[in-house]
Amino acid sequence: MRLLADNVYAVGVQHWDRRLFDELIPLPHGTSYNSYLVKGREKTALLDTVDPEKTELLIGHLLKAGAEKIDYIICQHAEQDHSGSIPDMLLMYPDAKVVTNPKCAKMLIDHLHLEVDQIIEIEEGQTLSLGDKTLTFIYTPWVHWPETMSTWLQEDKILFSCDFFGSHLATSNLFVKDLAKTMEGAKRYYGEIMMPFRSSIRGNLKKLEPLDIRMVAPSHGAVWDKPRMIIEAYAEWVDEDVIANKVIVPYVSMHDSTKKMVEYFVEALIERDIDVKQFNVPVSDLGEMVIELVDAATVILGSPTVLVGAHPSVIYCAALVNALRPKTKFAGIIGSFGWGSKMVDQLTGLMDNLKAEMFEPVLVRGASKEDGYTALDELADTILQKHRVLGIAE
Ligand code: FEO
Repeated sequence: MRLLADNVYAVGVQHWDRRLFDELIPLPHGTSYNSYLVKGREKTALLDTVDPEKTELLIGHLLKAGAEKIDYIICQHAEQDHSGSIPDMLLMYPDAKVVTNPKCAKMLIDHLHLEVDQIIEIEEGQTLSLGDKTLTFIYTPWVHWPETMSTWLQEDKILFSCDFFGSHLATSNLFVKDLAKTMEGAKRYYGEIMMPFRSSIRGNLKKLEPLDIRMVAPSHGAVWDKPRMIIEAYAEWVDEDVIANKVIVPYVSMHDSTKKMVEYFVEALIERDIDVKQFNVPVSDLGEMVIELVDAATVILGSPTVLVGAHPSVIYCAALVNALRPKTKFAGIIGSFGWGSKMVDQLTGLMDNLKAEMFEPVLVRGASKEDGYTALDELADTILQKHRVLGIAE
């Protein structure tokens, strides 16, 4: 339990050894479930709870903070890492009411089987007075669910933003101390769950402009006590025109034919002063690839042919890229085959969400010879040319 401001306590918990979220997202640094207690002169509110696995730790922090009563449990997001302890909170504080928006209320009834009379529904812009502290609710949907909202604590100028601006990091620092690590965690988290909804996030950022924010307190990771840094980073990430002279090359190789092509191609890009990130998919943390996807101009998949199509790991990678809808402008496929391949049609079909221009694929039979390497040089030239047209390459 720690103090953010007078009578504003951080009562959430760290989950140091969690390594996967949603059975999908790698968590190399664990995560935290942040929960905040705001004690007003008349009423006390708890903003979000924690993953049900960690309820006992939350209870310990509430007792240390002297939370003898809680009047309101503000639920900003129905996903269980923040809402999952609400049923236990209602048992501990039977007079408390859950305060949330109508969409979130329905989800809490569906997922946690709350009763209608346990919930007070609020609307966008509505305020809730705790006496000398005032909470205002701001809808910030699609970060990554449709019901998510933020809460503005007017007197202390703190924005409680839930997943928005968060980072999956278990940390003993209440406030951001290791900026590079926290920013990378935030970019990873944005890429993994929010990137497909960036047009909505642009609207959310606009809504925050009138606020004189002193602190952004998200529901994962450290609190941003210099909030402009994360707000400005988000503004870049969601901007369709902020794109990097960068090529991502996720690949798989079974007998080195595709690997040799990838290595040659990556060298060719480096010689052309293009930033490159190469990922051997089966042994890579795909969260690192997602960080690069946030602003890379080009994605080139490398795959051998197996069972007539692309390697299943590359199929997974293509499906992931497609689901995340990055602002990638160009895409292509390189690789090898033994006697025939349907992988180009297969992978292209899997990436139909991408609004990217597809390059002519470079597929070779067996191990590449001179003509295959020439085709890779030509692909590198084409990418450089395209990036120049975008104004991102020399
Ligand atoms: Fe941190 Fe969408 O839950």
